[in-house]
Amino acid sequence: MPKIKSELYREVVQQASALMDGERDLIANLANLSALLWMQLPDINWAGFYLLKEDELVLGPFQGKPACVRIPMGRGVCGTAAKLEQPQLVADVHQFEGHIACDAASNSEVVLPFYLNGQLAGVLDIDSPSLARFDQDDLQGLQKLVLALQDAMA
Ligand code: SME
Repeated sequence: MPKIKSELYREVVQQASALMDGERDLIANLANLSALLWMQLPDINWAGFYLLKEDELVLGPFQGKPACVRIPMGRGVCGTAAKLEQPQLVADVHQFEGHIACDAASNSEVVLPFYLNGQLAGVLDIDSPSLARFDQDDLQGLQKLVLALQDAMA
């Protein structure tokens, strides 16, 4: 039987905190978080991070197929989340104006901004081949994961 989402994310956040315990290297932590999400979340085809560098998003640690390297602020789902500093929950990426198709298999997507030293530092991006794969429960769970990352890096 599939786990209920709140339980799944409680486990994921616990594992994430254990992996980052005492470690403040950003790339190492993001690499482990993307591997953890890839291992634990069902029905996804990409999980990883873009880092904000000189006003554009640059590909960071991820799992999945190779992806576009640079995304301007305001472009695509990631650039929109970064520019508005608001999570984006996209049920059908083909209906999202300006969506950047890195993997043609992606149909839905969730993107959350994250902060270091109180400043926007990048986004967490997860894609799924299923339509409407992500909901408010995913958003809530992933928000907790982002908070765990920010705490570990503080
Ligand atoms: N689809 C994203 C681009 C990144 S890939 O999905 C990995 C977007 O529209 O921003």
